[in-house]
Amino acid sequence: SQASAISTCRKRRSATSLKEILAKEELTHDDLVAILSAQVGADIDAIREAAFAMAEREVGTKVYYRGLLEFSNRCRSDCLYCGIRRSNTRLERYSLSEEEMVGVALRCAEAGYGSLMLQSGERRDEPFIAGLERVIRRIKRETRSPALPDGLGLSLCVGEQSREVYERLREAGAHRYLLRIETSSPELFARLHPARQRYEERVDCIDTLSDLGYLVGTGVMIGLPGQTIDDLARDILFFRDRRIDMVGMGPYIPHGDTPMAGYAATFSLRRREQFLLSLKMIAAARLALKDVNIAATTALQTIHPFGREWGVRFGANIVMPLVTPARVRKSYQLYDGKPCLDDAEGACLGCLADRVATAGREVGLNAWGDAPHWGRRREAPVE
Ligand code: 5AD
Repeated sequence: SQASAISTCRKRRSATSLKEILAKEELTHDDLVAILSAQVGADIDAIREAAFAMAEREVGTKVYYRGLLEFSNRCRSDCLYCGIRRSNTRLERYSLSEEEMVGVALRCAEAGYGSLMLQSGERRDEPFIAGLERVIRRIKRETRSPALPDGLGLSLCVGEQSREVYERLREAGAHRYLLRIETSSPELFARLHPARQRYEERVDCIDTLSDLGYLVGTGVMIGLPGQTIDDLARDILFFRDRRIDMVGMGPYIPHGDTPMAGYAATFSLRRREQFLLSLKMIAAARLALKDVNIAATTALQTIHPFGREWGVRFGANIVMPLVTPARVRKSYQLYDGKPCLDDAEGACLGCLADRVATAGREVGLNAWGDAPHWGRRREAPVE
């Protein structure tokens, strides 16, 4: 279990004090384990302060928005943890029209969000890809304004695709792509996915996206059944080795209509611990990766009412206001307890600006807020 994994790691902690670790420029696997295993209040405070300062040094004092538009829940994949997996018949499937998506994008641009993320279940059929290409082109064209001369910055989160498809979508105007590895442990990955969804293919997709010039994001779920602190430390090294530009991570939250629903029973006992671990992961990622973008995700807010603010305090610099039309939100539940299901559209906006201010940062409006890491990586490629 998580608890025993944590105590084993604590025993293994070396003589180096946490303070020394937090002052280092390059963190090792053992350093990451020490950070992730910290339990004492003063240690957690020190980790938070170091990560918050590192964020300021490397990416500045602003937090940027990515409006999150969940435009379709149709999915060919069958991930065992996910509420919109193909085998779940207990939800209505939907796809938003091009018109509606462009409308949402225009409202985001008017509200000063510099960026939009288009997320959906995974589909590879030509009508889906061609439709997505079309809507990307329209959004890029129609959201141009004096305040945003190149239109909204577009991020995609539409799963594993062929190189050709990634090329087409990049060409259409999307410049960022988020594809979570979910866990960098091949064994754990295999337990969470049907056999036809392969770890190696996911990694290949991430490398292809990098190769094509996307600003590439990946991430993991935290608190998965069977996941250890060692796994999580390796996840961060995976991000570093693959020269990832952005990270989106959040707690794993069971969904009642999935094969992993049973895990929910013992779950509530561990919520506090899982929340803290999620924050330590954000801080560890910030300290190890430095100039990347890190999101304080919705899942983080799901397990704590001020989860996103805490994420920002621990080094995150991206928040993702939900801009999915209210009428379909309940059909896009990857996990139980997703917040804002009943909020009116746009309600997230004012609410989030205040939340960011509470965390000691300001919102960067009308700007893309790309991670500095992306430019540096392209200037200095490794062979
Ligand atoms: N709990 C937390 N995150 C989840 N995701 C999917 N299902 C869950 C869950 N039950 C995350 C995955 C995926 C992203 C879109 O949502 O990490 O990559």
